[in-house]
Amino acid sequence: MAEKAFTPRVFSGIKPSGGLTLGNYLGAIKRWAEMQGKGLETIYCVVDLHAITVWQDPADLRHGTREVMAGLIAAGIDPESSILFNQSQVPAHAELAWIFNCVARVGWMNRMTQFKDKAGKNAEKASLGLYAYPALMAADILAYHATHVPVGEDQKQHVELTRDIAAKFNHDYKVDFFPLTEPVIEGPATRVMNLRDGSRKMSKSGESDMERINMLDDADTIAKKFRKARTDPEPLPDSLEALDNRPEARNLVSIYAGLADMTPEAVIAEFAGAGWGRFKPALADLAVEKLSPISDEMKRLMGDETELDRLMARGAERAEAIARPILEQTYDIVGLVRSR
Ligand code: TYM
Repeated sequence: MAEKAFTPRVFSGIKPSGGLTLGNYLGAIKRWAEMQGKGLETIYCVVDLHAITVWQDPADLRHGTREVMAGLIAAGIDPESSILFNQSQVPAHAELAWIFNCVARVGWMNRMTQFKDKAGKNAEKASLGLYAYPALMAADILAYHATHVPVGEDQKQHVELTRDIAAKFNHDYKVDFFPLTEPVIEGPATRVMNLRDGSRKMSKSGESDMERINMLDDADTIAKKFRKARTDPEPLPDSLEALDNRPEARNLVSIYAGLADMTPEAVIAEFAGAGWGRFKPALADLAVEKLSPISDEMKRLMGDETELDRLMARGAERAEAIARPILEQTYDIVGLVRSR
């Protein structure tokens, strides 16, 4: 069957648990903002249903959802030109996820590295939701027939599974209904690493706060975290290849490049031969310059929860208008009788 051409449409999501990190910003949010205004429809979602796959205190979840919504707007996502909302207000996500639970195979889920990492040795005690999480993520994307999904490197496997689900659905029902979505993993900082251990990803859930930069950290905290970031004794080299076996050094160069909108090569050209005593303060100053306007605006927006809730409701209505007809067609294809 010839592949149908789908209108390009961008979708991505972020969990509202544990605040925003520099990894979220450089790997995802900053790039989401840059994809606006290029003639593509852009849809961004605070995925609260994903958050509850591990325990969330209800008050923290409510707060976190509004805080991430504020963070996205503060970082440049315009709730008019993009569709911006929280997942649970558009029931099509959960409904389509059920269909996809019946399409995806247990063997596919067993290969998901994120489940293995998160469930750890105690997989028997993990929630069923955590295991089925990638099918909900496929539903998030495919409920909009999204063709492009900007994410950090860690989400690549989930987007590939989304393609597998779309392909199996299309094959089983002999339709060309769901697009084969492309992950868009671009830029100098698609995998921001932990500041204390260059072999691990920077994440919201790491034990020590010194491992990560939070979007709400103040200038002194940012400077302290970069000053104390693990590095090696060597100065910065004059080529990027020379950083291949220096993960912590490579990470700080990538972060600098991401914040400055430079290539890592250009950062190396500027700082070749510099010691950490010069590079780290320059990095801290750059981070404060770029992040503090965002955190100030985030705090300001958090002062008006009614307005944030109104924006989420409006975004959800616009999202629903796209997702509901796609879900109804899916039900038809599957053979579910819709008589009212
Ligand atoms: P989440 O909430 O863990 O992260 C949100 C986005 O931030 C990126 N990211 C990073 N990028 C670079 N370096 C890092 N250290 C780093 N940490 C996080 C993630 O790659 C992601 O793009 N399952 C998803 C949320 C989701 C989703 C979706 C994404 C649900 N449905 C549909 C895309 C499309 C997640 O847990 O992201």
